[in-house]
Amino acid sequence: MSLEGLYQEIILDHYKNPRNRGKLEKPDIDIFESNPLCGDELCLHAHYDGKTVKDIKFDGKGCSISIASASMMTEVLKGGGTEHARKFIDGIKAMMHGKADLTDEELGDMEALKGVADFPARVKCALLAWTTMEKALNQKSPEGK
Ligand code: FES
Repeated sequence: MSLEGLYQEIILDHYKNPRNRGKLEKPDIDIFESNPLCGDELCLHAHYDGKTVKDIKFDGKGCSISIASASMMTEVLKGGGTEHARKFIDGIKAMMHGKADLTDEELGDMEALKGVADFPARVKCALLAWTTMEKALNQKSPEGK
């Protein structure tokens, strides 16, 4: 399989079997955003004490890239601290602008999103979950900005 085909498979796998999809009881983070370009919607829930993302789930409707990216994001942020979350948010944003702040090892499945940078119209799809989480963190722990 070509690398492109493999990436396509990874994105489709996350789209068809999204990780951490759903809602949480009494979430500390409860945020809703939509992609202004297409109207697709994302709702993020997290248990977050200002230091650690103890649990995180997402729900919504969107294209394969937006759902896969949200699924990947919840996997990598779950259980991690604020700094960890911000590192990945900044890293994925940089990747969408063709920069490589995160190593392939750190990226894991998210490496499959790299090619999206070549399609400016889809960058907002890939970033929807990440910019939504960034907004939530800025509201909850602005000192970490
Ligand atoms: Fe709507 Fe991708 S087309 S989020």
